[in-house]
Amino acid sequence: MTNAAVDSRLFEPTTLGALRLPNRLVMAPLTRNRATADGVPQPIMATYYAQRASAGLIIAEASTPNAVGQTYPNITAIHNDAHVAGWRRVTDAVRAAGGRMFLQLQHGGRVGHPDTSGLTPVAPSPVPLPETIHTPTGHQEAVVPREMTTDDIHATVADFAAAARNAVDAGFAGVEVHAANGHLLHQFLAQGTNRRTDAYGGSVAGRIRFTVEVVRAVADAIGPERVGVRISPGVTFNGMEEGDTEEIYRALVPALADVGLAYLHVVFADPDQPLFQEIRRAWPGTLIANPVLGWGRPLPADGGRLAGERLLAAGADLIALGRPFLANPDLVDRLRLGAPINQVRDEGLMYTGGESGYTDYPTLPAASRPRAKTLDPVGP
Ligand SMILES: Cc1cc2nc3c(=O)[nH]c(=O)nc-3n(C[C@H](O)[C@H](O)[C@H](O)COP(=O)(O)O)c2cc1C
Repeated sequence: MTNAAVDSRLFEPTTLGALRLPNRLVMAPLTRNRATADGVPQPIMATYYAQRASAGLIIAEASTPNAVGQTYPNITAIHNDAHVAGWRRVTDAVRAAGGRMFLQLQHGGRVGHPDTSGLTPVAPSPVPLPETIHTPTGHQEAVVPREMTTDDIHATVADFAAAARNAVDAGFAGVEVHAANGHLLHQFLAQGTNRRTDAYGGSVAGRIRFTVEVVRAVADAIGPERVGVRISPGVTFNGMEEGDTEEIYRALVPALADVGLAYLHVVFADPDQPLFQEIRRAWPGTLIANPVLGWGRPLPADGGRLAGERLLAAGADLIALGRPFLANPDLVDRLRLGAPINQVRDEGLMYTGGESGYTDYPTLPAASRPRAKTLDPVGP
């Protein structure tokens, strides 16, 4: 191992809204299924996130804004007082460790099951997930979701806004609205899942409407500088078929551009892709890019440093990494020192309970760690 510090813009301090970040590395949201069955964060989650507090920003895992939005067993929620109290323990621990944290708000839409949530999933149209889904009793066929009425849509927009207020009460600096990876907002954006003929379907202008309404309502609830949005142009997770990918994001990004949001976050961002470059040009504010590291393959030996630097050079402001932070609580130090990277030990442990594969990844010996820079304290 070398102790020669790597010189890189990744380690420059920067700002995000009212927050001062000690570096440009963001821990991407990672669902880890360590909450109680009704979505209350457990104390072990405070340990896990505090271990990773040296990230410039942590975006905490997908948290459901209402009961019907629950995707999988033991995911976190943020729609009642017990959820707020559970998350408060986590944000307190992260703040005490010197970190800053947003919470991702995710409604699963058709990615859900009555055996998990007790409710029939809802979606823009009655188009089921074309895959089996994990439930408390194992993998099962997906059910046909119930088509949302206009009243359902308005109630869901209000649930997102209430969840954002709860997140701030729980001590988060802000929230990330999840419009990516095949969940409810993405289902509204995509032709394959949105067959509606009303104002929320049909043309691109109709299909982006729900996402724009959710984002605006959340921004009105807690202030736009506390709100980010995650998008995944072209990503086919969860059986997604966007159809007109370019048109969707050419309409959506400018529609969000004047809200004054904290950031836009692009999943699997490729600096050579023309659509990524177009999004960069169209987005006036902070752009977080989550690079393509090779899904389902071992992490690159440099932990994603070069992929991140290429995206910074292409105009991204912050770099989000998922599995590298999962397996390396001290990822920032490791990248800065060019130290070896822990691989994800056993993918089976990503979504199971307990400490194994969660809070037990090793850190570098104290003697090899660089001294952390001290920043002025900042508000939540
Ligand atoms: C265990 C696990 C859980 C994930 N959970 C979420 C999530 O809650 N919300 C989300 O938007 N993406 C989620 N993702 C996707 C990651 O945020 C990230 O986009 C993906 O892992 C690619 O980045 P990486 O190659 O740096 O890991 C998850 C990925 C993994 C491996």
